[in-house]
Amino acid sequence: MIKRMMIAGNWKMNGRDFAAEDMHAVNEAAHTAPVDVALCVPATMIRDCAAAMPRLRIGGQDCHAASSGAFTGWLSAEMLRDAGASIVLAGHSERRTLACETDADVQGKAVAALAAGLRVIICVGESAEVREAGEHIAYVLGQLDGSLPDQLSENVIIAYEPIWAIGTGKTATPDDVAEMHSAIRVHLEGIAPEHQDSIAILYGGSVNATNAAALFAIPDVDGALVGGASLKAESFLPVVAAGIAEAANR
Ligand code: PGA
Repeated sequence: MIKRMMIAGNWKMNGRDFAAEDMHAVNEAAHTAPVDVALCVPATMIRDCAAAMPRLRIGGQDCHAASSGAFTGWLSAEMLRDAGASIVLAGHSERRTLACETDADVQGKAVAALAAGLRVIICVGESAEVREAGEHIAYVLGQLDGSLPDQLSENVIIAYEPIWAIGTGKTATPDDVAEMHSAIRVHLEGIAPEHQDSIAILYGGSVNATNAAALFAIPDVDGALVGGASLKAESFLPVVAAGIAEAANR
């Protein structure tokens, strides 16, 4: 199976003011799109968003590695699926940093998500300090080795999100993005050659209407994970449109 491009939004702990009418245009664009369009929303909003945007993949932003048990406050992948999710993020840098999630934690979540029938976007990315030290490639490939499930499939998606580019308005340069995505693709070929063409690699970090087309034109960039610009149709739709235009060229 050849990978499809994906444009995925991440609402983080936002979106209570979402209006179904506002997102109608995004839902319509996803109808015939040669790309997958997803929105990872707060878990309490999955059911409403799935009903309002049936052509999108609606997802969660985290899940527990276990399917049930004494884990107060957590949600299992099955619970997200029951609410209408078909995709989930694992290992977003905010969770790695603020909730102290390790690569092993992220791997456990990814395995659980796949077992529940969800697709999973596994997030990796280096800090500014790691990049300044010139260790970004080794660091990110190490994160992948620790976070990817042993059994890969096209239901696994990788998002490269340099931490210093998230929510800052700074994007990595095209050369930086090309270098990292190529390194990830080559690494994937080494560890899972049977999946080298089926796993999409998204870029994330201040993707918006202005920079999306240039980012999507970079080899091995198969779409984007979009935070702030995914909250409103007026800023998300142009990113989706840029993805559709690029997919039509491939
Ligand atoms: P941003 O967030 O687009 O607002 O930088 C991206 C993300 O955190 O996934």
